[in-house]
Amino acid sequence: MRGKMKKIVLSGIKPTGIPTLGNYLGALKNFVKLQNEMKDYEFFIFIADLHAITVPQDPKELKQNIKNLAAIYLAAGLVPERTTLFVQSEINEHAALGFVMQSISYMGELERMTQYKDKMQKQVQGVSSALFTYPSLMAADILLYDAEYVPVGDDQKQHLELTRDLAIRFNNRFGETFVVPEGLISEKGARIMDLQDPSKKMDKSSEGERGCVFLLDPLSTIKKKIKSAVTDSEAQVRYDKDNKPGISNLMTIYSLISELSYEEIEEKYTSRGYGDFKKDLAELVAGEIEVVQNRYREIINSGKLDALFDQGKEKAKVLAAKKLHKVYKKIGLGRY
Ligand code: TYM
Repeated sequence: MRGKMKKIVLSGIKPTGIPTLGNYLGALKNFVKLQNEMKDYEFFIFIADLHAITVPQDPKELKQNIKNLAAIYLAAGLVPERTTLFVQSEINEHAALGFVMQSISYMGELERMTQYKDKMQKQVQGVSSALFTYPSLMAADILLYDAEYVPVGDDQKQHLELTRDLAIRFNNRFGETFVVPEGLISEKGARIMDLQDPSKKMDKSSEGERGCVFLLDPLSTIKKKIKSAVTDSEAQVRYDKDNKPGISNLMTIYSLISELSYEEIEEKYTSRGYGDFKKDLAELVAGEIEVVQNRYREIINSGKLDALFDQGKEKAKVLAAKKLHKVYKKIGLGRY
């Protein structure tokens, strides 16, 4: 379909605040792993800044967050030889195809999106219409590049299903145009929970920051947050998601960083209490994040970022423009 181009894996993260340990384990670390494993695929990873403004942002902070996320992508191990890195708003085709996607999205299906319903409940006042149509824009991000696979955390599953529906709907109405993408959702780590309330997912916007580890937190803060995570009174390191959600969440984090299985972790801590376990986990997490932070500090001031993101923009733009032209033609927009 696309001549010599390799098949594409695509994903993005919103530059709202500093990325969390949830973003890292559920998305970023996975992008890097897949980038290194799936050699037959080309990777497109972008900064979803248009998505960020669906809730109010301070302009200066937004600009800084975009730069931070750019550096964090590289610090985490994405390499430009394998991954095209770019900023969403620099490619106008995203917004344009987003509008086309809105034109084939039904009110009813957007109303069913749980993330919209949750945010709507929290925000009450001043909910923007862009927050409502957010999933149509996300579909455009993916379909613009004919992405086959989209690695995301669990909370994006519904948006991906909508993307598939929209791709199929468009193809049926206007003729074969889009690749119908598939989500890549890891079995482990797709939903890292809040350290203080393990019934909620770890999220930048949750009240109280004690339950959320941010990638640029001082290492001492990170350790403190892990050590004061909520567990239960059984004091036995055992994976049981339903009855022991706190310790199970910590075991997931442990397992993802150490690459030990749940059984191996259980065995290791069989006659030791939560104190020991949390202390070790605090060191593990801080050790992993320390590496990212050190690389981040080198990159953010190196002056390399702009050139890389310019390159990415150029490459993404070619594909996006071609696709949008095809879409307009199929729909009958414009004169050509
Ligand atoms: P965002 O910025 O909210 O989150 C980025 C990625 O992190 C994952 N994630 C988590 N994974 C595990 N545990 C958690 N607690 C946790 N919190 C967040 C998310 O699932 C996501 O993969 N709409 C997207 C950004 C986006 C996008 C796209 C993604 C825009 N267009 C196209 C893929 C393809 C979002 O808001 O992610």
